[in-house]
Amino acid sequence: MQRILVTGGAGFIGSNFVHYVIENTDLHVTVLDKLTYAGNRASLQGLPDDRLAFVRGDIQDALLVDELVRGTDAVIHYAAESHNDNSLAEPRPFLDTNVVGTYTLLEAVRRHGIRYHHISTDEVYGDLELDDPHRFTERTPYNPSSPYSSTKAASDLLVRAWVRSFGVRATISNCSNNYGPYQHVEKFIPRQITNIIDGVRPKLYGAGLNVRDWIHADDHSSAVLTILAKGVIGETYLIGADGERSNKDVVELVLTLMGRPADAYDHVVDRAGHDLRYAIDSTKLRTELGWLPKHGGFESGLAATIDWYRANEAWWRPQKAATEAKYVAQGH
Ligand code: NAD
Ligand code: DAU
Repeated sequence: MQRILVTGGAGFIGSNFVHYVIENTDLHVTVLDKLTYAGNRASLQGLPDDRLAFVRGDIQDALLVDELVRGTDAVIHYAAESHNDNSLAEPRPFLDTNVVGTYTLLEAVRRHGIRYHHISTDEVYGDLELDDPHRFTERTPYNPSSPYSSTKAASDLLVRAWVRSFGVRATISNCSNNYGPYQHVEKFIPRQITNIIDGVRPKLYGAGLNVRDWIHADDHSSAVLTILAKGVIGETYLIGADGERSNKDVVELVLTLMGRPADAYDHVVDRAGHDLRYAIDSTKLRTELGWLPKHGGFESGLAATIDWYRANEAWWRPQKAATEAKYVAQGH
């Protein structure tokens, strides 16, 4: 494998993956990204021109997708509408990009016999009770809650159908909540860090007891490269780093790390249909493919992420006011 096509490579996890690939492999990367409000060309700044090509375009554009897929050895599909709150306010772009966009890519890899890896989320499994001793595994039934997660579930099922019906050489991974640099300020952790920088109190949805299972974006990237190299065609792998934390704990930790009183936050209106808890059992990926996360502690990773947002205000500042205005309109 020499050349890969990365969709959504100007978004949060996609851009972290592109940096990781360029630092840790000899692969040539072509990024296909529409540069929606969530995409940022600056997230790829400084990467060498002889290793990276950038194409601005839509994954629903069948002609463009066909041309790019034809010239590559593998497609890694990150592009998506990714934010639950947006999917509650306006579901249509989620259907277009997450479902029709994935269909468009699958038809192209089918035509040209290209290896395909599909990036998905643990949210396809719905949520768990706080005291449930079980975690999600590859055998957990699909039970998505939001327009976002239901379109991701639909896209996963399309991939499985294209493997079985047409012999497409695909793998799927479902990962838990990522944190790290280059994450849009609409998302939980960057929103709170940048609020604190601006002297605004962090906003916790509802009581803040909801639990997310945090993993550093670099660990997600190493897992995807492992699946590309060693994954069995047709299989699904769950990616997680045993990082369960309540939202309340995370906000308190961010405040403490930024030198503020741990209780200096506000409760705001809860998200409709808010999933209570996600938790990943990544035993299959660890035992069958030998993957292990490298980022030890959430606290040190979070401290480094805070430093990154402090040092890179020029990257996030242009999005901040519009994002907060959208939240005010939604009551968050
Ligand atoms: P993001 O919103 O930060 O980035 C999405 C990227 O896709 C942006 O660069 C955007 O411009 C691009 N894009 C959107 N629509 C497009 C289209 N029609 N054509 C081409 N490009 C388009 O999202 P993210 O958080 O980086 O998530 C990336 C992927 O990882 C998604 O598939 C998401 O479901 C999945 N995922 C995310 C997390 C997480 O914690 N953020 C966890 C597990 C899985
Ligand atoms: O689990 C993987 C998923 O993680 C990905 O599939 C999604 O693309 C990604 O956005 C993320 O979804 P969440 O809904 O968990 O992430 P978000 O950052 O929106 O919110 C995390 C938690 O924090 C959630 O319980 C809602 C809460 N929250 C969020 C915001 C923006 C707050 O309490 N306050 C906030 O201001």
